[in-house]
Amino acid sequence: MSVLNKTGMPLLRLFDAETAHGLAITALKSGLIGASPALPGGPLEVEAFGLTFPNPVGLAAGFDKDAEVPDAILGLGFGFAEVGTITPLAQAGNPRPRMFRLTEDRAVINRLGFNNQGHQAALKRLQARPRSGIVGVNIGANKDSVDKIADYELGVKTFANFASYLTVNVSSPNTPGLRGLQDRGALEELLERVGDARKEAEACPPLLLKIAPDLDDEALQDIAEVVLKAGIDGVIVSNTTIARPPLSAPDKDEQGGLSGAPLFSLSTKILAKFHRATAGKVPLIGVGGIESGSAAWEKLRAGASLVQIYSGMVYEGPRLAQQIGHHLSQQLERSGFDTLSDVTGTGAKEWAEA
Ligand SMILES: Cc1cc2nc3c(=O)[nH]c(=O)nc-3n(C[C@H](O)[C@H](O)[C@H](O)COP(=O)(O)O)c2cc1C
Repeated sequence: MSVLNKTGMPLLRLFDAETAHGLAITALKSGLIGASPALPGGPLEVEAFGLTFPNPVGLAAGFDKDAEVPDAILGLGFGFAEVGTITPLAQAGNPRPRMFRLTEDRAVINRLGFNNQGHQAALKRLQARPRSGIVGVNIGANKDSVDKIADYELGVKTFANFASYLTVNVSSPNTPGLRGLQDRGALEELLERVGDARKEAEACPPLLLKIAPDLDDEALQDIAEVVLKAGIDGVIVSNTTIARPPLSAPDKDEQGGLSGAPLFSLSTKILAKFHRATAGKVPLIGVGGIESGSAAWEKLRAGASLVQIYSGMVYEGPRLAQQIGHHLSQQLERSGFDTLSDVTGTGAKEWAEA
């Protein structure tokens, strides 16, 4: 059933962005948005950080913050779902309104501030779900936490047994001080401590780092070196931006992180630069402004092994993952490449210098 595709999407847009998001989660929970036919496996399969992804299109963090609907998401044709960001303690986040649709710009601004139900609520749900499909867990720190790194250590210990991979998110702009953990010294300490926490855990899921798009060349180089030295398994590029490219929607001056179409070129350029800075040695997930199959293809060319989407779904609906998957398999056939992995990085120089 495609209720949300045909009539539901315009209907959802009658509500403010956060209410619409809550309704979408409820619809997914109740089965109102039915599963999509599976995408053809084989050519779309990607191997990255020891996992085999049925297709490279994932749901980005922030949509299913509390791990309420990962299996319904996988049923929509996503190759993987990332839940979170989850912090140790439940927290309310910033006052509403704090999420804005910039329809004219096909963008979103949010300053949610890690509103979530905390580790234990998400853990219970993850423990109860069938252990099939790739579900990553994105972990963060509470706003009032004195030792933020300790929050990440606890996240690793709590979710290691129930996550296909773990993402250390140090790039949300809405928690004061969080992005400072991307600075060389702080990042070295963070990655060492979360690496040790993973060693102590029973299971050893891949560890990913999610970075901001608002980094200059020197900061990118620093992160690349630290990531390589720490043996981090993958990097997600990127989170939302605090920059403001030209926008025209009425809410364009709202504070927070900008995502969607206006983020595409900035995040793709940073992705390509990071691919080059790590000499293609670290698998990357490209995220930011993907709203079509051709945009996803460009992310692969720029250096991504996998991609994720969020804001694109706000405008294109819940079948976007499937549409992207179909496009990628057609494009792969036309391109003469054998696998999607062969496409990764083929346009990195072009994008990095764009
Ligand atoms: C409403 C909203 C909430 C988000 N919350 C999170 C979050 O909790 N953790 C995180 O790592 N990223 C979060 N993000 C960022 C997305 O995961 C993604 O990196 C970013 O939106 C760029 O992708 P897009 O242009 O496809 O939306 C959020 C994005 C939006 C729009």
